[in-house]
Amino acid sequence: MKEQIKKIIYNYFNGEISEDLIKIEYPKDKSMGEYAIPCFQFSKVLHKSPNDIAEELLSNTQLDGNCINGYLNIKLDRLEYTKNIIKEICDKKSEFGKNNIGNGKKVVIEYSSPNIAKPFGVGHLRSTVIGEALKHLSVKCGYDVTTINYLGDYGTQFGKLIYAYKRWGKEENMKDSVVNELKRVYVLFHEEAEKDPSLDDEGRAWFKKLEDNDPEALEYFEWFRRESIKEFEKTYDLLKINKFDSYEGEAYYKDKMDPVINELAAKNLLSISEGATIVDFGDDKPALIKRSDGATLYITRDLAALFDRKRRYNFDEILYVVGNEQALHFEHIKKIVEMMGYDFAPQVKHINFGMVLQDGKKMSTRHGKSVVLQEVLNEAIDKVKEHITNKDDLEIDVDEVSRIIGVGAVIFNDLKNYRTNDIEFNLNDILKYEGNTGPYVQYTYARIQSLLKNKIDYDISYNDLEINDYIWNIIWLLYRYEENIINAKENNDPSIIAKYALDLANLFNKLYASEKIVDDDVNYSQFKLLICEITAIVIKDSLSLLNIETINKM
Ligand code: ARG
Repeated sequence: MKEQIKKIIYNYFNGEISEDLIKIEYPKDKSMGEYAIPCFQFSKVLHKSPNDIAEELLSNTQLDGNCINGYLNIKLDRLEYTKNIIKEICDKKSEFGKNNIGNGKKVVIEYSSPNIAKPFGVGHLRSTVIGEALKHLSVKCGYDVTTINYLGDYGTQFGKLIYAYKRWGKEENMKDSVVNELKRVYVLFHEEAEKDPSLDDEGRAWFKKLEDNDPEALEYFEWFRRESIKEFEKTYDLLKINKFDSYEGEAYYKDKMDPVINELAAKNLLSISEGATIVDFGDDKPALIKRSDGATLYITRDLAALFDRKRRYNFDEILYVVGNEQALHFEHIKKIVEMMGYDFAPQVKHINFGMVLQDGKKMSTRHGKSVVLQEVLNEAIDKVKEHITNKDDLEIDVDEVSRIIGVGAVIFNDLKNYRTNDIEFNLNDILKYEGNTGPYVQYTYARIQSLLKNKIDYDISYNDLEINDYIWNIIWLLYRYEENIINAKENNDPSIIAKYALDLANLFNKLYASEKIVDDDVNYSQFKLLICEITAIVIKDSLSLLNIETINKM
């Protein structure tokens, strides 16, 4: 539509005005119309006042509207537009809003990336939820998407872990929870190592074996890794996250770092500082590539992974969904890519995010430990379950309904604000059925589904239908769905979609509060039910972009 208006104006001036001078904005006062075109910048070229230009356009083109203060405000034919969008959404359904800005382009999204043998914490929840939304958005925009879960599965701690498990581990505990058992023996290791420092040597020795691909060490490691993934997958199941395309974590790169280190050396980018090998950026924060004992580091593996991915996927964009605290790490990676003479650094994007807070403080258990995600999700689900009163009346079982609402609430709370902000986590607030919550949007959807029971097979006569402001505001927002999707993808910002879903739910509830949807006027009632239907389609679709499910009854 915007393009059409641009064309009309451009053609009218016969090319006298360059296309990028034609800006299309939205009027602050909605009653002015749907679009506002500032005419000031035309003035300089055409030597006429902005108002005269606006008037001229109104009288000589098919554009309809008014001109005020140098703006041409364009009013759309409400009925025409309403008919068109109804048809479009009814035809396309969940394909509505799909666009092709990513056609022919490859995006790699690396997200979630928990550390094995450790519990999946709330910090990794943010990465998981944001990454998953970016995946859906990218698919909707036509990108070819590959998802990677870059597990934290490498480090000297795995040597200690093997030793500790061999010494104190119990297989029957592993059946219960691998992560808990490994944590137990790891803590024990550190307690004992305080008294007997020779344990550290034992740990180091096992790590060395792991590095040298000793079969026994590898077997333990693979087992810990496999079982950890199984445990993470329970969380992914709750979140309804499908498998990742790749689980290649840090360990995958343990023997693949030489090429990049050699290339850095060949390009004279390495220097030695206190025995360690670094890349010096001329400030006091170099990147540590090798420790003085020759051990590689986090960034060394990340560099190897990045070049490997570039080769394998030839991406146009790679997104690293990782917290704010690793900002410097990703800046270093990008700088090093540039210094090596490659031009793809701008394709490397750190999709950073803030912390999860509880009462303004970093979320942690009473003992100051990090909070386990699965427990948080289960608590949310249980709370919802307590409050479901119409248990016999639901179409699907209470457990499933509670999961969808509880998990949806947690996800929505995470995504509704711009991602770099810290988010406050208060279970009671996020589970409310009113306010800016997931359950509120889901509830609006369910309310529409129950209204739709009144829909009958009926041919609507559009002849003298009045499209009042309540309805028009909904229609107009539906028109801008695709634009919001594109905006959300271009900024890698799912909160645009969360806000969109909230706005749509709010507009619907305003209509619902202002007039009866179903009354004696069959034609008008059926028309409004159609508006309900397309609204519900788009609410459902926008939530699904955030990986939030909907239910017909709640
Ligand atoms: N496992 C890491 C952590 O928990 C996150 C990995 C981030 N991704 C990366 N390519 N460095 O902190």
